[in-house]
Amino acid sequence: MRNKLIAGNWKMQGSLAGNPVLLNAVATGVATLPAVSFAVLVPFPYLVQARDYLSGTSCAWGAQDVSEENSGAYTGEVAVSMLSDLGCRYVIVGHSERRARHGESDERVAAKAWRALEGGVTPIVCVGETLSERETGQTLAVVYRQLDAVMQRLGPGLLAKTVLAYEPVWAIGTGRSATPEQAQEVHAALRARVAQADAIVSSGLQILYGGSVKPGNAIELMRLPDVDGALVGGASLVAGDFLGIGQAAASA
Ligand code: 13P
Repeated sequence: MRNKLIAGNWKMQGSLAGNPVLLNAVATGVATLPAVSFAVLVPFPYLVQARDYLSGTSCAWGAQDVSEENSGAYTGEVAVSMLSDLGCRYVIVGHSERRARHGESDERVAAKAWRALEGGVTPIVCVGETLSERETGQTLAVVYRQLDAVMQRLGPGLLAKTVLAYEPVWAIGTGRSATPEQAQEVHAALRARVAQADAIVSSGLQILYGGSVKPGNAIELMRLPDVDGALVGGASLVAGDFLGIGQAAASA
């Protein structure tokens, strides 16, 4: 039985003055939902604040990217040792916004996932197709290519310590979530792909769905057999919505 994880990706949003209201509300709310795991992935400057407000609660915190390098002359990059210094449990790697805006290749995403694990931080590895890729029937080919790069770099032993997230690019920030059928089809296909390498790792792998998840559509998504939680963007900035999605996961 896989636990559900509800992870909030704040993206480039928040403020030092405004974050405490949200963090306090999340800290209080997650205590009422002990069966579900929670995390918030905040901008780097707010990691200390997230640690200060969430330490001792059941909500973990983490970052939205990490360098594939260990340390050194890499201006603007952040090492996994710095994330673990701040108590980060998770880091997102390969979000489509980074793949698209920063040209992150499948191999670079895989290297980041490997580096995160080496530093003791769990990578949440994002895969997903664009609208044109879906419309031309390439969905599974694209997510397999993205997954295969990670599987090759990590091997089954490290893959078992990874969280996967299926985020169709066309569903991100659009208000147009994948239908339950679309989500289940891709999640099951991803799990089957991992099973070809290792059946035990496959059955334990947490695969989150991301893309316009709201309290209103969360129940049907969280009930799907191969959906093990959500990677939530916009709705993670509203405590009631984020916790509402957690409630849906708890009752699924
Ligand atoms: P939205 O929930 O805003 O669509 O964002 C999804 C996402 O990209 C999470 O990483």
